[in-house]
Amino acid sequence: MTADYKVHGDIAVLTLNNPPVNGLGYATRLALTDGLAKADADASVKAIVITGAGKAFSGGADIKEFGSPTALQEPNLLSVILMIENSSKPVIAAIHSVCMGGGLELALGCHYRIAAPGCSVALPEVKLGLVPGAGGTQRLPRALGVEPALNMIVSGEPVKSELLAMLPGQQLFNKMATSNESLAEEALLYARSVAETRPLPLVRNLPCKHPQGDAYFQFARNMVGGMSKNFPAPLKCVDVVQAATTKKFDDGMLFERESFINLMWTPECRALRHIFMAQRAASKIPDVSADTPQRAINSVAIIGAGTMGGGISMNFLNAGIAVKILEMKQEALDRGIATIRKNYEAQVKKGKLKQDKYEQRMSLLSTTLSYDDLKDADMVIEAVFEEIGVKEAVFKELDRVMKPGAILASNTSTLDVNKIASFTKRPQDVVGMHFFSPANVMKLLEVIRGEKTAKDVLATVMALAKKIKKTAVVSGVCDGFIGNRMIEQYGRQGGFLLDEGCTPAQVDKAVEKFGFAMGPFRMGDLAGNDIGWAIRKRRYLEKPDMKYSKTADLLCEKGRFGQKTGAGWYDYVAGKRDAIPNAEVVKMIEDHRAALGITPRKISDEEIVQRLVYSLVNEAAHILEEGIASKASDIDMVYLMGYGFPIWRGGPMNYADEVGLFNVVQAMHRFAKNPLDDAKFWQPAPLLAKLAAEGKTFN
Ligand code: NAI
Repeated sequence: MTADYKVHGDIAVLTLNNPPVNGLGYATRLALTDGLAKADADASVKAIVITGAGKAFSGGADIKEFGSPTALQEPNLLSVILMIENSSKPVIAAIHSVCMGGGLELALGCHYRIAAPGCSVALPEVKLGLVPGAGGTQRLPRALGVEPALNMIVSGEPVKSELLAMLPGQQLFNKMATSNESLAEEALLYARSVAETRPLPLVRNLPCKHPQGDAYFQFARNMVGGMSKNFPAPLKCVDVVQAATTKKFDDGMLFERESFINLMWTPECRALRHIFMAQRAASKIPDVSADTPQRAINSVAIIGAGTMGGGISMNFLNAGIAVKILEMKQEALDRGIATIRKNYEAQVKKGKLKQDKYEQRMSLLSTTLSYDDLKDADMVIEAVFEEIGVKEAVFKELDRVMKPGAILASNTSTLDVNKIASFTKRPQDVVGMHFFSPANVMKLLEVIRGEKTAKDVLATVMALAKKIKKTAVVSGVCDGFIGNRMIEQYGRQGGFLLDEGCTPAQVDKAVEKFGFAMGPFRMGDLAGNDIGWAIRKRRYLEKPDMKYSKTADLLCEKGRFGQKTGAGWYDYVAGKRDAIPNAEVVKMIEDHRAALGITPRKISDEEIVQRLVYSLVNEAAHILEEGIASKASDIDMVYLMGYGFPIWRGGPMNYADEVGLFNVVQAMHRFAKNPLDDAKFWQPAPLLAKLAAEGKTFN
């Protein structure tokens, strides 16, 4: 049963019961219509209360049904709502905790609504690239007023029930209950008080007008259009809400339906739905179940108070977890703590953090110069210099002092986690936790699973990631893990494009127009061009056959490391991040090109984008095939959360699926014919070739 039916005296109570949030899946809808029919047939029942069991009234659509035919199977939500509206007995929604999407639409179809305070109320469909599709856009403006309804529909953000109840003239909530606990009792009393009222009120019959009409909606369009550039849904929300004010209710409903269905087929909506599912899927590891035990983490030690150590510490302090930082020298500790303070103080100044919260967080932080002080920590994260010898010394010390069962993590960005684990006598407790810089801001965390990493260590780290509000993606051990291994190929293509005729600004502009937050050269300047240089120097020894453009090395030889030196591919004015093209750099590229005997050619933006993005895709296909990533959607999450890949394109794998893998492979064959490119790299990865040949997709 997904809805329970009980009669309390003369009131029937239908309780949605589909954990965790009473999603309105097929079985629940069926149980609702059965219950309504039963109540209608029972002469002793005078009114019907619909409420939700557990943690929600209803969270809306059942995500288990996403994309499946049962989502639309009759009775669909529109039919259920129609049945409620046509009920001969009053139907009262008793709302608490969470009332969102289809849940709110269901409530709006009821004759009356009583709500507990503290309930999160929202129509979040826009976040999935849609407009609400079961009357929300037509009923909410009638019940709440046009402006607040439009704000909710366009933003998708939840608003607390008690705030909505204060809006003048609102008819969303006919009554506010005192508390969650008293809701059931108060709903019964309220139901009895309206049991005999006729005719039954319907939200659809309420007037819906805005005094400024067209002018208001034009203003709304200007605001929304500016903010939602690449997504069609927010502007569509304005259209459908305007329709509520200009069309008859049933015509407005038809327009809403048509808009919903049209949006459903847009690539932007598919991308957002893909991300929604990918985000949930990322925390699922094939051989680690929800029942895998977890270790308790109440305190964390951090080794190194540099760029990463400081940022990583802040994540735990923010989550209320005690942190102890270890450094080699007091000065390094002082510097690290000062940076953490500076970051928090900036937040306080901007009003993003309250002074007492700041002090509370700092009180959880302590420092030490002695490893022996770490013996009580439940977990340690190492963030010292990226040298295997230094890591070895640190992990041997950690092995000596940490208590049994403590998790030993490394933030290494390139080193072999298996090797690091081998420095200890407890490789099962060792794991990689690759944070991204700035670690207190960036949402991505690559969790590196070593050959011997225990399942409970993985389960613990994934749960902890959630606690510190990171999107964690598991990667196997390989050079660069998922994200940086792919970006190396992208960087290589960037270099070839310069050699063949592009300027850094041209490449960056093309990629930024595609939607990346930053093109490869601006990104290099931000991260520091010396980092890529160090990796290339290593590669020249490890993989002498691999082809690289030498242009970036020439740039580094000039000391142009990027923003930190005030000069990189571009020039920078101190304190500002604007990238100013530099004529000398362009000349350096031209001279190098001439020295190689290359006649520059004009390269289209389309070719630039394809070469850069498909280089990511091809490397990702190898990563997937090797089992470094367990699913394509994990790779999408890495690029969306850590590398500024445009959200509305859903990540590189989703984008390749949209383009069609056949077309991607054809482009690769074309690129392979370019003598200035790397023909070997452009051989499609076997997995990609196979999927393309079979007409399949990654996701
Ligand atoms: P950093 O140079 O800013 O900080 C390293 C800190 O470790 C310094 O404060 C140093 O005094 C301390 N340290 C060195 N040896 C130590 C030892 N034996 N015991 C205690 N403390 C010691 O370096 P950063 O950038 O914070 O990098 C740290 C680690 O994080 C490296 O493994 C790096 O590859 C990785 N990483 C760096 C990213 C970045 O963007 N900077 C991104 C992701 C990972």
